[in-house]
Amino acid sequence: MTDSINILGIETSCDETAAAVVADGKIVKSSVVASQAKLHEKYGGVVPEIASRAHVESLYPVIKQAIEDSGLRADQIDAVAIANQPGLSIALTVGVTAAKTLAMMWEKPLIAVNHVHSHLQAAMMDAAELALPAVALVVSGGHTSLYDCESALDLKLMGSTIDDAAGEAFDKVATILNLPYPGGPNIEKTAKNGNPKAIHFPRSMLDKDSLDFSFSGLKTAVLYHCYGQNMKGQSQVSKMTPQEIADIAASFQAAVIDVLVKKTKRAAEKINAKTILLGGGVAANSALREALEKMANSTKRTLLVSPKKYCTDNAVMVASLAYYKYKAGMFADLTLEAKATVN
Ligand code: KG4
Ligand code: ZN
Repeated sequence: MTDSINILGIETSCDETAAAVVADGKIVKSSVVASQAKLHEKYGGVVPEIASRAHVESLYPVIKQAIEDSGLRADQIDAVAIANQPGLSIALTVGVTAAKTLAMMWEKPLIAVNHVHSHLQAAMMDAAELALPAVALVVSGGHTSLYDCESALDLKLMGSTIDDAAGEAFDKVATILNLPYPGGPNIEKTAKNGNPKAIHFPRSMLDKDSLDFSFSGLKTAVLYHCYGQNMKGQSQVSKMTPQEIADIAASFQAAVIDVLVKKTKRAAEKINAKTILLGGGVAANSALREALEKMANSTKRTLLVSPKKYCTDNAVMVASLAYYKYKAGMFADLTLEAKATVN
């Protein structure tokens, strides 16, 4: 039996400081996530400088914990992996610097992964096999992207958002409805008591064949609904009953899900997909998971969804994706830099 390959993954692209050790891309030996949600709550969104400083403070203890929990010694780690793009530049840089330092000290390979791609790894890692062709949807706070997925390392972008990401829309609508940060989980909770058909919010499908997304019109429609047409009035939210707020949350959520499911179906038809993959923070939403499941079943496709615990940012997905780069010999060197956007 060959020895397993243990990879330490590090994730600092936004507001979670995370480290994990994963063996052979599949066996999670440890996973530590320090969320900064409390620090950003009063600002209603992530403040890059605060995120960066918090990463500096927590990263060392988080990495130490991840190694301790794995039951391995540092010299049993075979490679250090870092999500170096895309994300907040000054947040990514903290993780990139730490990963480079560890790789240099331990004299182990450094592996750079794309954060958005790694979200899909969470959906793939438990699957025995990936029936191709596969369409992959990543829905997070920063991205809404559809890919033609050949393998963990071979993802071709088919479409993405032209304005707000799906998670961003959830967060902004939560702010409009005076729901606490982070908005996504709170919209989902509130929507459980609401009627998704109470208000018909717009579903932007763009051109007939388009696989791009646009959520800013939907967000504006919620804003108008709460402030009055043309934003002339005051927000009515504080005067609304819990039922009225729940109805808005449920109707908004239904509109987002409708578009996500229809576009994913369109992409799946285009490449004749056998499999649909779903990952990213918004993939934690049960209503979205159920709607995609229904679509996949009715179109006879297999749906692979990220486990809920690995939907939002974590380092398991980073270490797991890095394993395939390790096997392919795709290593980075110490000139590696953080990149806010992917080119
Ligand atoms: O993947 P992620 O942790 O960070 C990025 O890469 O952006 O995603 C965070 C996003 C946030 O916008 C958050 O509100 C959203 O995922 N989110 C949800 C749910 N849980 C997290 N959106 C809808 N329903 C949820 N249950
Ligand atoms: Zn993410």
